[in-house]
Amino acid sequence: MGVIVPPIKCQGIKTKLVPLIKECLKTPIKGTWIEPFCGSCVVALNVQPEQALLTDTNEHIISLYRGIQDQTIKPGIVKIFLEEEGKKLSTDQEYYYRVRERFNKSKDPLDFLFLNRSCFNGVMRFNKNGKFNVPFCHKPERFSQAYITKIVNQVRAFSEVVSRSEWIFEIADFRTTLVRSKPDDFVYADPPYAGRHVDYFNTWSANDESALINHLKETPSKFLLSTWHSNKYRSNPLLEANWQGSGFFTKTFEHFYHVGSTEDLRNPMTEALITNYALLEEDKSIEYNQLSFIGGRN
Ligand SMILES: C[S@@+](CC[C@H](N)C(=O)[O-])C[C@H]1O[C@@H](n2cnc3c(N)ncnc32)[C@H](O)[C@@H]1O
Repeated sequence: MGVIVPPIKCQGIKTKLVPLIKECLKTPIKGTWIEPFCGSCVVALNVQPEQALLTDTNEHIISLYRGIQDQTIKPGIVKIFLEEEGKKLSTDQEYYYRVRERFNKSKDPLDFLFLNRSCFNGVMRFNKNGKFNVPFCHKPERFSQAYITKIVNQVRAFSEVVSRSEWIFEIADFRTTLVRSKPDDFVYADPPYAGRHVDYFNTWSANDESALINHLKETPSKFLLSTWHSNKYRSNPLLEANWQGSGFFTKTFEHFYHVGSTEDLRNPMTEALITNYALLEEDKSIEYNQLSFIGGRN
C-alpha cells in the first residue's frame, strides 16, 4: 500500500520517510502512539495505531483535525467550500488576502485548509503575533476540479482512519505530552530543527532541545526521535553530545525536503533516527558512539 497523504502540508513533513519510520518500529504498538509534534499527522496516518495521543502547539492543525474527527468538517463540506472559494479566487487573486485576513481573525479551519493549499511554496508560517503571513502562490486557477478532488480525497482518507481509531488531538507543549508516556506506549518525536523552520509555532531554543532530550531519556516508553545529522555545510553539533553512551541507537539516511522556500531547505540533508531500542536484531544496530552512515538516498 502506498503512503496515505494528509490534507495539510507543513515544513518538515515526513511523507517520504514514512516507509523507513515504519520499518524502524519493529513491533506492533501495544499501548498508545504518542506524537508530541504531530504536525500534518502523516506518520500516525500511516502507522494507524488503535490509540494515539497527537499533540502540537499549532492550534490550527489540531482544530482542523478535531473538526474532521467530530465530522463538523466532512469531505462534502470541504468540496463545496473549496469550489465556492476557489471560484472567487480565480476571478480575483486578491481574494486570497481577504481569506487570510478573515482567518487571522476567526481562525476558521476551512480557511486554514484553503490557505495551506494555495499559499506560496506550501509553507505554514505565522508571524510573531501568531498571524498567518505567507503570500499567495500566484496561481489564480489553483483550485482546479482535479486539485479539489485530491484534497477532498485526502480529507476522506484521514476521516476514515480517524473514525476507526481512538485518537486524541490536543494543543499541548511537548513537555506535558511526554510526561504522560507509559511503558507500553511508543513515542515518535519530530521536533522543529533548531534555526531552520523559524516561525511562531516553530520557535525552538536550546532549552527546548535539552528539555526534550531529558524527557526522552526518562520516558518509560520506547521512542524514536527524528533529528538532523548533517547537511553539506555543517554537522549537528548536539547529536553526539546528547546521545553519546550506550542504550541509544541510530540510523542515518539522506533526505531531500520538497516543502520549503530557501536553498538550505531544498538541499539534501542527512537525517538521523535515534531510538532507545535496537534497530537491527543481529548486531543491535549502530550504538550511538559508533555512528556511521548506513542509509541510502531516500
Ligand atoms: C517538524 S514538524 C513535525 C512534522 C510532522 N512529523 C509531519 O510529518 O508532518 C514540528 C512540529 O512541532 C510543533 N511544535 C513546535 N514547538 C512545539 C512545542 N514546544 N511543543 C509541541 N509542538 C511543537 C510545530 O507546530 C510543528 O508542527
